[in-house]
Amino acid sequence: MDAREMKIKAAEAALAHVEDGMRLGIGTGSTAEEFVRLLAERVADGLKVEGVPTSERTARLCVELGVPLKSLDELPELDLTVDGADEVDGSLRLIKGGGGALLREKIVAAASARMIVIADESKVVDTLGAFKLPIEVNPFGLVATRIAIEKTAARLGLSGPLELRMAGRDPFTTDGGHYILDASFGRIPDADALAGSLNFIPGVVENGLFINMASLAIIAGPAGARTLTA
Ligand code: A5P
Repeated sequence: MDAREMKIKAAEAALAHVEDGMRLGIGTGSTAEEFVRLLAERVADGLKVEGVPTSERTARLCVELGVPLKSLDELPELDLTVDGADEVDGSLRLIKGGGGALLREKIVAAASARMIVIADESKVVDTLGAFKLPIEVNPFGLVATRIAIEKTAARLGLSGPLELRMAGRDPFTTDGGHYILDASFGRIPDADALAGSLNFIPGVVENGLFINMASLAIIAGPAGARTLTA
């Protein structure tokens, strides 16, 4: 089974949790896109759902494939969000934001009664942190915010380069008009403390640590899909 087939396997298993009439948060990234494709087939067959996309990219795919969309303001309470992740640990803590959609992903997940993560085995880790932690920041005061992040990380015993994410010659800009600093802290033994501390920094808009948000992870490997629960 290749990487794409594993993503499809995980997406198929998540689709089994979708029921007629549900209000869905729809994630971002290549795994979430497989979910959108399968969901669109079910919608074409008559499934009635309404989705809130977590990015402009996901919104475009949903429109193209005929998945009905609403804004989060129109559907502020969702039944289920299905989204990918960059890392998942055994307690279903996540690193997200590799695709740059962490802020909307976190807002949508927080508005959902349940969040299911879909991923392949390569995303499962004992301790978060091998994947660079995306930190979404306001462009104003970027240097000051970077220094504040370094100091906060140091208080938790963490250090490492913070790279401004680029899109060609310009900084990558999120759907919300912010920048992303990708932090190479290495292993993050206390993700809960780091997540909370980062968000105390005024220039930090959001960080890619998703704690206590996912209730189920569907992990696809060569032998099929398995589940992790919180
Ligand atoms: C988007 O910002 C991310 O949080 C994605 O959910 C994450 O990067 C996983 O993407 P893939 O499914 O493409 O690996």
